Amino acid sequence: MQDTISAVTVDNKSVELAVKDGTIGPSVIDISKLYGQTGMFTYDPGFTSTAACESKITYIDGDAGVLLYRGYPIEQLAEHGDFLETCYLLLYGELPTAAQKADFDYRVTRHTMVHDQMNRFFQGFRRDAHPMAIMVACVGALSAFYHDSTDISDPQQRMIASMRMIAKMPTLAAMAYKYSIGQPFVYPQNDLDYTSNFLRMCFAVPCEEYKVNPVLSRALDRIFILHADHEQNASTSTVRLAGSSGANPFACIAAGIACLWGPAHGGANEAALKMLKEIGTPDRIPMYIAKAKDKNDPFRLMGFGHRVYKNYDPRARIMQKTTHEVLNELGIKDDPLLDVAVELEQIALKDEYFVEKKLYPNIDFYSGITLKAMGFPTSMFTVLFALARTVGWIAQWSEMIEDPSQRIGRPRQLYVGTPQRQYVTEAYRG
Ligand code: CMC
Repeated sequence: MQDTISAVTVDNKSVELAVKDGTIGPSVIDISKLYGQTGMFTYDPGFTSTAACESKITYIDGDAGVLLYRGYPIEQLAEHGDFLETCYLLLYGELPTAAQKADFDYRVTRHTMVHDQMNRFFQGFRRDAHPMAIMVACVGALSAFYHDSTDISDPQQRMIASMRMIAKMPTLAAMAYKYSIGQPFVYPQNDLDYTSNFLRMCFAVPCEEYKVNPVLSRALDRIFILHADHEQNASTSTVRLAGSSGANPFACIAAGIACLWGPAHGGANEAALKMLKEIGTPDRIPMYIAKAKDKNDPFRLMGFGHRVYKNYDPRARIMQKTTHEVLNELGIKDDPLLDVAVELEQIALKDEYFVEKKLYPNIDFYSGITLKAMGFPTSMFTVLFALARTVGWIAQWSEMIEDPSQRIGRPRQLYVGTPQRQYVTEAYRG
């Protein structure tokens, strides 16, 4: 695609900057030569106007509420496909043929076990450790266990590392859960599909037969599809930045998990459920709406608002439907948290403050209710998000590594500290 040129005046000096067009979405102004031409940096804390890379993986139109993986709408993938199909699509760019899908499923399934020494690694944690703390540590530690897939210059090793992480995340996530409740680890069972296997590793015990509920398995699989990628969000950008230094892929994904943990990002599903519990009954909603609107109160409605979506998050719609399916299947007729959530959503969608700021429910608003009904404790919610997002992180990391123009990421700053001064000995300090 031919770049067009845009002339801007900086400090009374006219500079020409290339404008690059994508296939869809806003064009970008290429400022990579700006410093050389003007001696100035651009300033954009929070990256609200800055594209950090080119990508062919995921597209979001936040105003229209559109999310595409490799061009396919999320609604269609969630309705017709399964999570491993989405993984294939994100990694390779195309939907698999039946033979490719069978081969991919087989390859992922053959990597589900973790090194036996990992079991001992877990014993070092307190039983009440947050499972995200365990995940950060254990995924980072994979680089100490799988030395044959840490050479990022070897495409074969990169591929094996990718397979290993997609396959082992459910095993590690289930182990983190089992460890926290003092139950023995359940080994993967490779004749089960990806998500059913995960449910079994979480909820089976050695003394009883465990039957996977296909409705719950399908619902969780869909939740994984919804979380699989979301272009250059905070954790993905963290993975790219960590990877730009040449760090091994396990270390990069561990960095992504650490970033995802925060309540403004993946931790919001846990925070949203805690908030619904705290609100407790619909009559208390107005009080919390008032708190959310109060500038002097740090409280925010968790599960509301998004940096990119200024319309209904398309994932939230599918999630809401999935919540109802799961509650029906489990025979949960009256869930007080769901009552609060539905009412809160209705009130917020009509409230001037939320309407004016375009604050709509995001994916995390309903996911907590669904996961809780399935039997997961709140501390596991972000772990499930990390499990599903691993493929997105890997696809984005691979895209970056394979880009011949890739360089170490190195943002600049506006220094506002003390200018240079002379050291003084203690006796002369004020
Ligand atoms: N409740 C009340 N007010 C809000 C909320 C909220 N949830 N979200 C944003 N606002 C207000 C905010 O106070 C600000 O008001 P003003 O312009 O008067 O200062 C305005 O809306 C813009 O907010 P912002 O913080 O500048 O927007 P942002 O793009 O930096 O933040 C966000 C996006 C998702 C961090 C934020 O909306 C938020 O904290 N939401 C709650 C946490 C949450 O649900 N996070 C999950 C995101 S989706 C899953 C994921 O991708 O990880």
